[in-house]
Amino acid sequence: MKIRHVVESQQFTLPMLVELFSIADQMERVLARGGTQDYQNKIMASLFYEHSTRTRFSLESAMYRLGGKVLSTERANTFSSVVAGETLEDTIRVIGNYADVIVLRHNDLGGAQRAAQVSSIPIINAGDGKGGQHPTQALLDLYTIYKGIGTIEGVKVALVGNLTDGRTVRSLAYLLGKFERVKLYFIAPKSFQIKQDILDYLTKHNVWFELQSDLKKILPEVDVVYSTRIEPELLTQRGERLETISQYFIDDTILKLLPPHALVMHPLPRLHEISPTVDTDPRAAYFKQTRNGVLIRMALLASVLGY
Ligand code: CP
Repeated sequence: MKIRHVVESQQFTLPMLVELFSIADQMERVLARGGTQDYQNKIMASLFYEHSTRTRFSLESAMYRLGGKVLSTERANTFSSVVAGETLEDTIRVIGNYADVIVLRHNDLGGAQRAAQVSSIPIINAGDGKGGQHPTQALLDLYTIYKGIGTIEGVKVALVGNLTDGRTVRSLAYLLGKFERVKLYFIAPKSFQIKQDILDYLTKHNVWFELQSDLKKILPEVDVVYSTRIEPELLTQRGERLETISQYFIDDTILKLLPPHALVMHPLPRLHEISPTVDTDPRAAYFKQTRNGVLIRMALLASVLGY
């Protein structure tokens, strides 16, 4: 499979997802033997205008496991020529002469799309703007559901938290919407609910969904609960009570409502969403997600560099 850029979830067709997961399975075996040297002549430039732990480290780890090399700036807003007023477009054109692939996390909505439009080398979107997309996270999330539940068709997923601004949920909704008989429950306070563009997309593709604010009511029905952060300062800014946050807190008591086969997922970092006491429950899948992130990102890098 050859992919030019990874910009948004909608670009992935079902056959592409099947092939990507098959490559990720093969990468599990590559990882088990410590990696490969297949991409030893390739360089990945990692350009992060926003903070990151998982996305940057896992992509850099993935590139090293493939035998490639990494050029990295983790605070591009401070340490790159953006300080001297350089545009994103010019930075991307320049880095195209130094590397074979650019991983970009940008603070502007549509930053990755702008980069892809001028780039001579593949762009991988590592998150763009508030309420943008985070397709590599959604792909690893989907892979985790597939591995944990055994299928994606017919899966029932509760997406919880700040659904308005959360780019992981937006990207995941697009991907889940590609599968038959999927049911999506969007669970959030009113001012954090999923935006209309996602609902329009799901409606257009005949995907079943429900908007809810009551997590406890939904939990017994779902295969996956996908929790995300609600930043406390945003709650007060949007006129919600601070205590609202406790309605979405997953602890051992809440866990009793969840079926035994279900998965508890979170893109991390977590703040007040999941109690550390849940970590040892076999349904806790959030650290598996971080491990799967390396496999999926190895598969994506191989696919843009030529597999
Ligand atoms: N899940 C995720 O995007 O984490 P980071 O912000 O640490 O990359």
